[in-house]
Amino acid sequence: MTQPDTSLMSRLVSLCKRRGFVYPASEIYGGLNGFWDFGPYGVQLKNNLRDAWWHDMVECPPLGPDGKPLTIVGLDSSIIQHPQTWVASGHVGGFADLMVDCRETKLRYRADHILCIEVQYDKSAQTKSLGWLSVQSGDDAGELLAKKAKKLMQKSGGGDLRPIDITKAVPFTSLSLEQQALVIGPDAEVSGTLTQPRPFNLMFHSYVGVFQDEDAKVYLRPETAQGIFLEYKNVVDTTRVKVPFGVAQVGKAFRNEVTPRNFIFRTREFEQMEMEFFCEPEKGLEWYEFWVAERMRWWEAQGVKKTNLFRNIIPAGELAHYSKGTSDIEYRYPFTAPGFGELEGVAYRTDYDLKQHQAHSKTNLEYIDQENNKRFIPHVVEPASGLTRGVLVLLCEAYQYDESRASPEWLKLKPSLAPIKVGIFPLVNKDGMPEIAEKLYLDLRKDYISQYDAKQSIGKRYARMDEAGTPFCITVDGDTLKDEAVTVRNRDTAQQERVALAQVRPYLSQKLSD
Ligand code: GAP
Repeated sequence: MTQPDTSLMSRLVSLCKRRGFVYPASEIYGGLNGFWDFGPYGVQLKNNLRDAWWHDMVECPPLGPDGKPLTIVGLDSSIIQHPQTWVASGHVGGFADLMVDCRETKLRYRADHILCIEVQYDKSAQTKSLGWLSVQSGDDAGELLAKKAKKLMQKSGGGDLRPIDITKAVPFTSLSLEQQALVIGPDAEVSGTLTQPRPFNLMFHSYVGVFQDEDAKVYLRPETAQGIFLEYKNVVDTTRVKVPFGVAQVGKAFRNEVTPRNFIFRTREFEQMEMEFFCEPEKGLEWYEFWVAERMRWWEAQGVKKTNLFRNIIPAGELAHYSKGTSDIEYRYPFTAPGFGELEGVAYRTDYDLKQHQAHSKTNLEYIDQENNKRFIPHVVEPASGLTRGVLVLLCEAYQYDESRASPEWLKLKPSLAPIKVGIFPLVNKDGMPEIAEKLYLDLRKDYISQYDAKQSIGKRYARMDEAGTPFCITVDGDTLKDEAVTVRNRDTAQQERVALAQVRPYLSQKLSD
């Protein structure tokens, strides 16, 4: 099959625009980097994915390892919370560093962790500069600098290196712009590849009330998770949940990403589907493994091929300070292929968050296990996925290209997730056909999102529905008046079959339950 010249991603982005899945936000004003709007089909697809997650998490959670159903309840917490929330969670301190990127190695450093020194040597009774070297601060910084200086000296060919005195090294941030441009980055080979330091607090802020001062500063949540921790005590006190139990939430999150990119993969406003699973401390690792397996299985059930999913186990040395284990569930996006990129993170967050909120709020967040006469802070396992990123995965996975079809581009979405379930057409707009088609449409739309289309050739109508990922199209033709049957076309096979009008509902009900 010949594929068009343009990249798969650019074709997908233009299909999404053309068919009303995703538009650039504020397009008439030139757009706003990192923001996208979901159009009529896009919002339906997103809602269907959200509803599938909510159903499988809250309404009908999986069975636990003992074969008994798990308890998971829902929550919808505020986007703006007390600002102390983000101090306790570490987001205020942790997201406010000055960061420096290395253009050569693509590594990122905290600017205040880069120690720099000008290396000098003597030659022909003159003191000369070998340039600026840098290392990341740490116990062995002096040793490392000395080694690097020796290597540099060997390359430059002769002279007496002046001894390196680590106490004279200065942070990157205290150098002038001219000096910064001369520094060889901690892992780089050449100088001038470090960007200028820039503040990297990912949180958007605003002010509550009339005075716009520090006391009134609030943040747009960078994750939905913290709202769950804040309501953990209320949920325990007001419902009948018992550890182990989960609290699930779907909602907007905001991050002032420095490099929003790859369509709706990394945006500044996005939606998350997160669940915090509160369990006994000694069972944490077991539940972590359970949820990784369960979430991988769930994405497969949404129509994502197993071979396009990958469990990336984060090495112990790279884990966040609060985590005893994290696995990223990754997908083979067109822009990462043959590699993978994150779709969902499953983290064993221990009791870190509840302990932090207990300390900052001075509220006792212990769980009382009356049966066993025990008190403890539960440990937490968190499957955290992106809803908007999940939509991107569904679109990438569904995108098909087949020149032999009326519309070479079409979306093979799982029927239950497709924005429109059925298209209904009169073959021609006369001879009693529109009346029957309209009647069928008025009946079916009560249960299935349907679209009535009487415009243009039947081929063009099929093509429009294929591009929207509509699994079935029903055509009322001249024979319908005689045999009380319609033609049903299957999106995936393009095969048509004759179905009695009275059988259309059971037919759809069976086929759409996949
Ligand atoms: N509570 C944990 C947490 O927020 P995360 O890995 O930072 O963890 C979870 O985010 C998921 O949210 C990611 O796996 C990704 O799917 C989605 N996500 C994070 N940042 C995003 C962004 N800027 N744009 C779109 N989705 C994003």
